[in-house]
Amino acid sequence: MKVLQNQFTAYVFDNQSELTPEEQELLQTAATFTKNAYAPYSQFMVGAALRLDNGQIIGGANQENASFPLCICAEQAALSHFGSNYPDQKITQIAITATSKKSALDHPVSPCGSCRQVLCEYESRQNQAIEIILQGNGGPIFKINSAHDLLPLSFDGSIL
Ligand code: THU
Repeated sequence: MKVLQNQFTAYVFDNQSELTPEEQELLQTAATFTKNAYAPYSQFMVGAALRLDNGQIIGGANQENASFPLCICAEQAALSHFGSNYPDQKITQIAITATSKKSALDHPVSPCGSCRQVLCEYESRQNQAIEIILQGNGGPIFKINSAHDLLPLSFDGSIL
């Protein structure tokens, strides 16, 4: 028997002042996008902001539906907008944050499994890592080097 081991690394920052000004701006943009969430069912408003390699920032917010499985996550809203409008650019970073009417959210908000898979597709497609910056509504910040770090043994198109 052999053992496959995977080491996961997240860099933890106490607050935004420890980030670069560009990263602070990205997280603050993600926070602004939480205001565009349509989340009448969960009351959980997520914002995602992408930094492109031309420096531009674009964002998205979760869009819920009374038919719950049709809800669109903030990350996927932002990534679909990116893919549809900036196909020749690359994404260097994504910041994700949220607010909730039910809890303080003082810990980082992590992308769901489905968003991790979609992030990995964009990362593979552009052949360049996407750095991930996570924060709750305040509290510590996690920085992760690559979407693939969040999805070991991911399924990808090379098998098809
Ligand atoms: N949500 C996101 O926008 N991103 C995630 O990665 C996890 C969950 C949204 C979907 C739904 O509108 C609400 O958060 C509660 O699950």
